Amino acid sequence: MCGIVGAVAHRLVTPVLLEGLKRLEYRGYDSAGIAVLDSTNQLARARAKGKVRGLEEVMQTTPLNGRVGIAHTRWATHGVPSLENAHPHICRDTVAVVHNGIIENHETLRAEQKRKGHNFSSETDTEVIVHEIHDKMTDGGLDLLAAVQATVSILEGAYALGVISTEEPGRLVTARKGSPLVIGVGEREHFIASDIFALLGETQRFIFLEEGDVADMRADSITIYDEDGNKVERPISETKLAADSAEKGSYRHYMEKEIYEQPQAISNTLEGRIINEKVVDESFGPDASAAFDLVKRVQIVACGTSFHAGMVAKYWLESIANLPCDIEVASEYRYRPHIVSEGTLFVTISQSGETADTLAALKEAKNMGYAHTLAICNVPESSIVRESEWALMTRAGPEIGVASTKAFTTQLVALLLLVVALGRRNGLKAEKEAQITRQLINLPAEIEQVLELDQEIKQWAKCFGDKHHALYLGRGEQYPVAMEGALKLKEISYIHAEAYPAGELKHGPLALIDEEMPVVAVAPNNELLEKLKSNLQEVQARGGQLFVFADANAPLDAAPGVKILRVAETDEVVAPIVYTIPLQLLSYHAALIKGTDVDQPRNLAKSVTVE
Ligand code: F6R
Repeated sequence: MCGIVGAVAHRLVTPVLLEGLKRLEYRGYDSAGIAVLDSTNQLARARAKGKVRGLEEVMQTTPLNGRVGIAHTRWATHGVPSLENAHPHICRDTVAVVHNGIIENHETLRAEQKRKGHNFSSETDTEVIVHEIHDKMTDGGLDLLAAVQATVSILEGAYALGVISTEEPGRLVTARKGSPLVIGVGEREHFIASDIFALLGETQRFIFLEEGDVADMRADSITIYDEDGNKVERPISETKLAADSAEKGSYRHYMEKEIYEQPQAISNTLEGRIINEKVVDESFGPDASAAFDLVKRVQIVACGTSFHAGMVAKYWLESIANLPCDIEVASEYRYRPHIVSEGTLFVTISQSGETADTLAALKEAKNMGYAHTLAICNVPESSIVRESEWALMTRAGPEIGVASTKAFTTQLVALLLLVVALGRRNGLKAEKEAQITRQLINLPAEIEQVLELDQEIKQWAKCFGDKHHALYLGRGEQYPVAMEGALKLKEISYIHAEAYPAGELKHGPLALIDEEMPVVAVAPNNELLEKLKSNLQEVQARGGQLFVFADANAPLDAAPGVKILRVAETDEVVAPIVYTIPLQLLSYHAALIKGTDVDQPRNLAKSVTVE
């Protein structure tokens, strides 16, 4: 949540900061702001409520120019979205700060600073940081670097910071703990940002700061100190990602592009991981093969869409790999005691690798006696990957649309690889492994076919434009798929949607059924189809409007109040992945009809780095 960007260079940096903010906007869009040291070394600041384009408009009337600057796009935690709460925050016209994270002891610091005579202009937790740095420079006689080091040592919580001061032009100090931050290394110019995509237009070379690091940056040098103040070297990594890898191209929205990228993303996730119809154990880590022999149970922890992927994996693990699996949302898992059985593999699933609850649960789990930790993740340099013993990268490429699409389906693919690798040790026959791996290899082509349903789904979506509620039904491993479909609809079209295992309908939700409540069902041709049919009849009999995604061969017929769209015939194991696609398209088209901001739905942000 919140994106920060900064630059120190021999050229004017405002265009770099603005471009960086646009690329980071997925992290939050409640307000945006920039501060630079201008040609007279004064702090100049522009801020706007709402999106970065509002800030651009402000800057057209009051241009800002400087060779060192910081910028921020906000997802509000402390204080409403407003101009006053927009970063950068400034103290006595000398120090400016941008911050991503949460300062937990801000109330104590605020009370002390008020006693010292500081007036607060915002409700944010961040403002205490800038006053503290200011006081340590003026009263304590510290330079900017030492003042930041002294300040972060008393902060509790999470932070990624960019700090500049009129007292030391040409210097940008940055620090991180618990929130992501990268340094972009240029030619006689250096940058900071919350992720590498913000800076791909400027450099391909990055330094990933460790927890507690503070970096002293000038256009011609970078010096890094660890949490204890020791000078340290951090390696520079070069990314192969192209500058345009996070751009929309000819698509109307990132979400649309990302839905259509799924065949390629899945191929990438599979590449090199299946050889001779067998899953390659080393895909999970060099020593995973021997360790997998001893895995007796799996605990999965994740949030949101990633949690839904984990739920599907639970069905797969128990039915294909013959291994018991527990799954819990990270925000619950981290706050209760657990009984850890011997030989339990702890798996986190996270697109961003920065989700605060998932990361905290992983850190807790490392001291709880789990046999090993594995991350299924899309961002190699992320905190969750770095904290995990093993990682299986999903290789979906950057996902910018706030609603997760290709990250989810590639997570499912990665999880199925895990299920097969573990299953082989638990009685999964070689023929069955070969069958599943063939299904996986075929998957991109199958998804291409499902994407062709786009126009028909667009017609269906018209029936949702004036609705306030919808029900989603599935059975077995299609239940989490229905949950994911409902989440997509509510996130981007703001239509309230709930998912139920279809058999639960008669235990309460049936009372909701009328012609104003569309009911979406996923109905592959499996052993539960007959049961599902009875559940659907219950809906039809009560005047409900059914929208059923059914297998080409499923014995279901359209009727008054029952619309059926045939999804190409698919194999049972990969069906949850295939049936996700039409649900994504349905929510996308419903959102278009409702005219919402598809890529940046209200109140949400892509990377949830706060609790
Ligand atoms: C929904 C969505 C969220 C995320 C959740 C976890 O479309 O994207 O529910 O899945 O915030 O995020 P990650 O996977 O980054 O840990």
